[in-house]
Formats: sequence, C-alpha cells, structure tokens
Amino acid sequence: MLELYGQIQEAVAYIRTQWDHHPFAGIVLGTGLGPLVEHIDVQAALDYEEIPHFPKSTAISHRGRLICGTLCGLPIMAMEGRFHMYEGYPLKQITLPVRVFKAMQAELLIVTNAAGGLNPFFREGDLVVIDDHINLMGDNPLIGINDDRLGPRFPDMSQPYDQELIEEALTVARKRNFRAHRGVFVAVAGPNLETRAEYRFLRGIGADVVGMSTVPEVIVAVHCGLRCVGFSVVTDMCLPDALQPADVEKIIAIANGAEPHLRALVMGMLEFERQKRQP
Ligand code: HPA
Repeated sequence: MLELYGQIQEAVAYIRTQWDHHPFAGIVLGTGLGPLVEHIDVQAALDYEEIPHFPKSTAISHRGRLICGTLCGLPIMAMEGRFHMYEGYPLKQITLPVRVFKAMQAELLIVTNAAGGLNPFFREGDLVVIDDHINLMGDNPLIGINDDRLGPRFPDMSQPYDQELIEEALTVARKRNFRAHRGVFVAVAGPNLETRAEYRFLRGIGADVVGMSTVPEVIVAVHCGLRCVGFSVVTDMCLPDALQPADVEKIIAIANGAEPHLRALVMGMLEFERQKRQP
C-alpha cells in the first residue's frame, strides 16, 4: 500500500489543475445510473485516462469520466462509471478514486449500484438503502503493508454506513412516495451471475441484495475516514425457486428506469447536509 500515497498526490495535483475546489461529497454512479450527471452544474469533466493512476473503465453502460461541479448547491465530484474487480483491476486501484476524494477533503462518499434482489419482499425497480454489507469478493483493498498516513491497520466496521443519512434517505422515499427498503448488500466478484444454490446461500447468510461492486469502495472510505451512504436499485429478482435467466439489457433498462428515484435519494442527501450547514 506504500505506493498509494504518491499516486493519490499525483492524481490530486492533476485534478487541481482543472478544478481547484474542495468537494463536499464524492459520488460513484453505477450501471445505468449515469443520467444523474445531467443535473450537475459541471465545472470540469475529466476522462479517467487523463488522470494519473486512474484505471480505464471497460464495463458496458459506463462512461469513464470524473465530473466536478455543484449539485444542490454543494461542491461534488462524481464518477460517471466505476471500476469492477471482474474487469481485472486490483481492488487497490479500483478504490483509488475514493482516496482521491478524501485527499481533496471530501467528507462524504455516496455510492450507487444495480443489484439483484434476494429478499422476496423486494420488487424490480425498488431502491435499497444499504444498512450493512458482507464482503464475499474473496479479496480486500486493504491487504498489504498498511500506510498509517491513509488509515488504521484494523479499521472498525461496526457501522460502515451513516445511520443519520440512512434514516434521511428512507424519509425522502416516503415523502416522494416510492419504495425504498433498508437492506444488507453482499458483494461477489462476478462477472457471472449466481447459481440458484448461490442465491439460496446468499439469502441464508442474511443478504437482501447482491452486486459486484461498492464494498471495496466502502471499505476504503471507512479506512480513510469518510462517512458513507449507499443505494442499490433492484434490477432483477434472484429467487432460487423461481429464477428466470438473467437479461443484462433488461437489468440496464430497469436501472435506467429507477434513476429518478435514485437521483431523489442522492440529491436528498446533499439537500439535508446543505441545510445542516446553512439552515
Ligand atoms: N448478481 C450480481 N450482481 C448483480 C445482479 C445479480 O443478480 N443483478 C445486478 N447486479
């Protein structure tokens, strides 16, 4: 991990040549959730390729730009497209942008993803406010010599997601009259979807939704001391006794369809924080 510190400084130095502000929040936009960017007052849009040490995104429906600007009156940085373990990147590299947010003095990480629904009370298109997670990726971005400048060797994980923001997100959904559940997210490596036996197992160990991202970013956010909030869009139901073959086009279409609700949650978080600052 000792090489990360210099990489973060180089990425930050480059970004500052294009956008010299302190973001309040870093936002990671998952599959099909990119249109949120249209609501950002964009001051700089940097291709990942131009930022030192950022990996290049290869996933479908991900663009690969770091958008800097304001949303709901607060400075933010948004990743339009994220990196996945199944693309072959080391988790340390996937999570470098989170450390860059922190180094740019962000306070909050907002992560979003498309996920499979394991809880039979959920429906396609529902939102899930992530309350806790299970890391089943078989890897961890903190493995290696710890750099104490970045965070502690054994970060506490008793509450990775901010309880106040979870409550606020559920309130936003209630007020806007759409379905949002509190739930446990389990991360798998992918890229294949799971077998029926695996879905049965994942439900059995206490997960409500399953996806191939988010947990590495949240582990790193906790390590470096960022508050976190995470939202999943349920794009397909993963009920082992009634499983339909996965249709990736449909998954992306459902993620796109739920984007207005996801946007309401993300903007609700920023609105809430802005009001705390300037009541
Ligand atoms: N499994 C893993 N990741 C996913 C799924 C799933 O069923 N649906 C959307 N992302």
